Amino acid sequence: MSTPPEHARFLARDSFIELTARERAVSVLDPGTFRELAGPFDRLTSPWLPLQDIVTQADDGVVIARGTLDGHAAVVASIEGAYQGGSVGEVSGAKLAGALELALRDAQRGTPVRPVLLLETGGVRLQEANLGLAAIAEIHAAIVALRRHVPVVAVVAGAVGCFGGMSLAAALCSHLIVTRQGRLGMNGPEVIEQEGGLAELDAGDRARIWSLMGGEQRYATGFADVLVEDDTAAIGAAVRHAFGGGAGAAAGTPRSARVEALSARLAAIDPLTPPEPATLRTLWAREEGA
Ligand code: COA
Repeated sequence: MSTPPEHARFLARDSFIELTARERAVSVLDPGTFRELAGPFDRLTSPWLPLQDIVTQADDGVVIARGTLDGHAAVVASIEGAYQGGSVGEVSGAKLAGALELALRDAQRGTPVRPVLLLETGGVRLQEANLGLAAIAEIHAAIVALRRHVPVVAVVAGAVGCFGGMSLAAALCSHLIVTRQGRLGMNGPEVIEQEGGLAELDAGDRARIWSLMGGEQRYATGFADVLVEDDTAAIGAAVRHAFGGGAGAAAGTPRSARVEALSARLAAIDPLTPPEPATLRTLWAREEGA
């Protein structure tokens, strides 16, 4: 029996989701150009986790790499979803904010560096509370300042997704690339269930979760610019295309600055009777070129 072409395509793909944060950064940059900054041998670990009997990781779950994209200087910040749910603490947050702030300084000096965020994160690291929040505020401020000079491109591939303050960071980026497996939301399913109860959302109901906050839904409702397959080459190509002035907010007013359009969206729904995900795709249909 011959293999159907879609199966062959699926088997031939080179999964991005299965890569570690470091492998993801290597895969996005031009071959042979990956150079890590503040890497594991610098031993920048969280001072707060050992106090809570949690084993630290030598890079605190964030990889910062310089290299090139199509020959242009680039910086990639890649979050390791497998370490503490990709949560952002004091050290990992400082690495992310520092990388963006250095890119901003370079842009202001007239030597722009292409910034790419590979996001896989449960948001603020709950064990580091306000320190994580402070870092996230710096990350947001840096993205808003930087996107005036150069597109800030983010990828939410999966399996963790992108939540909490880092979902706001993703929303602030000029250009957002997602896969069907990715998830994007302010509150994660676990938090919604904990706070709102099972009637609000069953955090074990995967189909429901992805229908609400999955990459395909976020793309269909215009909260992401590109929907790609979980394939290393496809994601690398989408990142490069974003810097080449591809579709999306990079080409015009950033999504988060389109206040009137976003307000009109809110006015179109009644929060007391929230629409089903399929209806939302009609109410909040993406505008082509948006
Ligand atoms: N801070 C600290 N740890 C976090 C975290 C956070 N913000 N988000 C996730 N984690 C941890 C989980 O506690 C878990 O740790 P464990 O393996 O030691 O139990 C690990 O990351 C994996 O999370 P888990 O919930 O098992 O995986 P999942 O794939 O089912 O769901 C999330 C991942 C992110 C969707 C889910 O953890 C979630 O909803 N988190 C809350 C997100 C949120 O609302 N953040 C706002 C914070 S301000």
